[in-house]
Amino acid sequence: MPSSRIPGFYRMSVQQRLEKVAEFAGLNEEDKKLLINRGLSLDIADRMIENVVGTFELPLGIATNFLIDGKDYLIPMAIEEASVVAAASNAAKMAREGGGFVTDYSGNIMIGQIQVAGLNDPQSAKFEILRHRNEIIEKANEQDPILVDLGGGCRDVEARVIDSIRGKMLIVHLIVDVKDAMGANAVNTMAEAVAPMIEKITGGRVYLRIISNLAVYRIARAKAVFKKEAIGGEDVVEGIMNAYAFAEADPFRCATHNKGIMNGISAVVIATGNDFRAVEAGAHSYAALRGYKPLTAYEVDENGNLIGTIELPIAVGTIGGATKVNPLAKLSLKILGIKTADELARIMAAVGLAQNFAALRALATEGIQRGHMELHARNIAIMAGATGDEVDRVAEELLKMGKIRMDVAKDVLERLRGR
Ligand code: MEV
Repeated sequence: MPSSRIPGFYRMSVQQRLEKVAEFAGLNEEDKKLLINRGLSLDIADRMIENVVGTFELPLGIATNFLIDGKDYLIPMAIEEASVVAAASNAAKMAREGGGFVTDYSGNIMIGQIQVAGLNDPQSAKFEILRHRNEIIEKANEQDPILVDLGGGCRDVEARVIDSIRGKMLIVHLIVDVKDAMGANAVNTMAEAVAPMIEKITGGRVYLRIISNLAVYRIARAKAVFKKEAIGGEDVVEGIMNAYAFAEADPFRCATHNKGIMNGISAVVIATGNDFRAVEAGAHSYAALRGYKPLTAYEVDENGNLIGTIELPIAVGTIGGATKVNPLAKLSLKILGIKTADELARIMAAVGLAQNFAALRALATEGIQRGHMELHARNIAIMAGATGDEVDRVAEELLKMGKIRMDVAKDVLERLRGR
C-alpha cells in the first residue's frame, strides 16, 4: 500500500498532483480526464434535479498524510474555503506520529418516524404498536426485498409518547439497517407503507412519515493521540485544552468549534456526492442533545500528550443517489479506495477530528489569519503574473512587506525579473 505522506504535495503543479493521486489510487486515463474536464455533464445534471441550466463547481483538493486504522488514505475534499485542506493534511501529519487515527462505527442504522395524532389513549396505543412489532417489521420489509436479501431491512420498532403544543402524540420509529446506502429512500418508503397498519392498530391518524436525520444509531467515532513534541509542546496542549473548555462552556464558541469540524466532514460528504444537509443536521442536533456541546473532546494523558476524540452521527452512502450518478463522486470513492458506508463514515470522523485539532491549535497559538494571508499572497502573486517559482518568492516578499496588494505584487515581480 503506498503512503499518503507525500512531502511537498502542496508545492506541486495541479498536473503533478494529479499524477501522484493517480499513482496512489490506480486512476486510469479516463479518470484523470474526468477530473481535468470537470466530469459532471449537463446530461447527467439534468437527470439529477429539476430546471437545470448548468452545473456549479467547487475546487476539489486532496488532503494527504491520513493514516486511519492502520491504512493510508488520500482524502478528496470539495470546498470553497482556503486553508481547510492544508489544515487537515497538517493535523493528519501530526497524528501520524502518535499512530494515526483509530475509529469506530455503530452500523448503518437509520430511523424512520411515523407521527400519530388524535389519540385519546396514547400510552395504550404505544403498547399496541409494540405488541404488533413483528407485523410492522414484516410489512416494512416487504417494500425492499433487495435490501433484505443484502442482509439489511427493518430490524425493530420503537414507540414514544411526546408532549407537543397540540397535545400528546405517539411517534413510532422504524429502525432500519440501510446497508451501504444513505437510506432516506428505503426508510421513507417503509414509513409510508406501514402507515395504514399503524392507523388501524392505534385508531389514530398518521400525518408525517419521514426519516430522522438525528441518526443516533449510526454513530462514527475517531480518536488520535497528538504527541506533545509533535504539536509544539506543553503550551500548545494547554492552549487546546483551554479552547476545548471554552467551547464546552459557551454555545457561542461551540457553534464555531463545531462549524470547523464540519468544514472537514462536509467537504468529504460533498466530494463523495452525499447529502451534506443531512449530515450537518445530524451533527448539530446530536451536539444539542444535552445542551449544545462540542462534537470533539480532549484530554491529556500521563505523558502530557493530547488525546482527541470525536463522536457524531454520519449518515452517508457509497451506493445510490448522487454517489452513483455523479461520476466525480464515484471517482472520489475510487481515490479513497473504499466500497462501504462504514469505512466512509469512519474516514469522515477522522477528518472532522483532524480539522478541529488544526483549528484549535492555530487559534490557541498564532491565530488563523497568517495561513489565510499566505494563501491570499500567493493568489495575488499569480494574478500579478507570477508563474512557477516566482509565485512563492513574490508571495514571501508581499508578506514580509505586510502589503498584499496587486500593484505591489506587480512591482515585486518586475524587480525579480529585472534581476
Ligand atoms: C473557520 O471556517 C473555522 C474556524 O473558525 C473553526 C474554529 O474556530 O474552531 C477556524
